[in-house]
Amino acid sequence: MPETPATMRQLRSLVTPEGELRLSVATVDTPSPRPEQVLVRVEAAPLNPSDLALLLAMADVGRAPADEGAAEPTVTAPIAEPVMRALAARVGQSMTVGNEGAGVVVAAGESPEAQALLGATVGFSGTAAYGEYALASPRMCLPLPGGATPVDGASSFVNPLTALGMVETMRREGHTGLVHTAAASNLGQMLLRICLADGVPLVNVVRRPEQVALLRELGAEHVCDSSQPTFFADLVAAVKATGATLAFDAVGGGRLAGEILNAMEVAVVPADAPYSRYGSDVPKQVYVYGALDPRPIELSRRFGFAWGVGGWLLTTFLGTLPLEDLIRLRGRVAAELTTTFASGYTDRISLTEALDPAVIGRYAQQATGQKFLLLPHS
Ligand SMILES: NC(=O)c1ccc[n+]([C@@H]2O[C@H](COP(=O)([O-])OP(=O)(O)OC[C@H]3O[C@@H](n4cnc5c(N)ncnc54)[C@H](OP(=O)(O)O)[C@@H]3O)[C@@H](O)[C@H]2O)c1
Repeated sequence: MPETPATMRQLRSLVTPEGELRLSVATVDTPSPRPEQVLVRVEAAPLNPSDLALLLAMADVGRAPADEGAAEPTVTAPIAEPVMRALAARVGQSMTVGNEGAGVVVAAGESPEAQALLGATVGFSGTAAYGEYALASPRMCLPLPGGATPVDGASSFVNPLTALGMVETMRREGHTGLVHTAAASNLGQMLLRICLADGVPLVNVVRRPEQVALLRELGAEHVCDSSQPTFFADLVAAVKATGATLAFDAVGGGRLAGEILNAMEVAVVPADAPYSRYGSDVPKQVYVYGALDPRPIELSRRFGFAWGVGGWLLTTFLGTLPLEDLIRLRGRVAAELTTTFASGYTDRISLTEALDPAVIGRYAQQATGQKFLLLPHS
């Protein structure tokens, strides 16, 4: 096992009381694992939307000059006043970033679970993947199958388990089909492959014609484009055809969640049903699991009273999952790492490049198919 250095480089995100975001690459002590932890030498970590929300703190990164005079690479950007109010709890804290990554376990605590991983190449979930080394709990490590590289395993936690968690939630809550928004996303493509393999009816909602083409190419049957004038009628037809009464909404702002509930209501009420001012009694649920659109959610209620809109978070879901189910889901991710759960990356960047304002401007877009991978040791 190579010697672990006493210090390491790590990306940090700080919101100052003056209303500024400050990104830096700090040199910090390499942490030592507690008995039930492992230390991973991080080889690759994806930049996912939830990481970007913490990293960039909704700052105006279009106006982010690099601080050439600083000892460590540093970038600052202004944060708007209303956003600052929402960030009050993190002001003044230099925060680590990176929800997942992959690498080699180079040190382990004394617990048998931690020791068993020593030397293994793992995907892991944690809170500081954007650094040269990161701590993780053995429960949150996925030993990669033989031949798989850290790049293959960098996104083996968050999106795969979220996509699988959606199908598990559907079954657990008695629904038989799904609606999914921002469906051309990395996660959306995984969900599509799972649903095709498992025979789960799926309605994919996207916002551009080229995303319709992409998902059709992958085998999607129902794809509704919210930019089209026929969107609502298309959605009703797709919901009718699939019987989907549960939606996972990554957009999380504007009118989309309400439109989905309205479409479900139209779809479940037979044309010859007698009028009821209370609407149908078929339960309809939208789980908001992303915040791609920061506007408030607007519900235009034509969907009766049997409905719900709630939040859904992977960590909360995993907390409710019996260990044997977690092992089953992780086993599937490992077995299908380079097929169902494959992630493609358009850009590979170093820690220093992650602070280049031109690079920040590109990864902040979170555009379809444009996924960045951080290589902390490059
Ligand atoms: N709750 C959880 O536990 C959890 C876990 C994992 C992931 N997530 C969420 O899952 C979502 C997808 O993640 P990912 O890594 O798969 O993303 P990704 O590959 O980076 O793709 C983002 C997608 O969102 C679309 N998009 C961006 N802004 C949009 C908007 N305002 N309205 C509609 N579509 C928009 C993009 O389409 P364009 O090209 O048209 O911009 C793109 O297809 C994210 O919201 C993420 O936060 C949540």
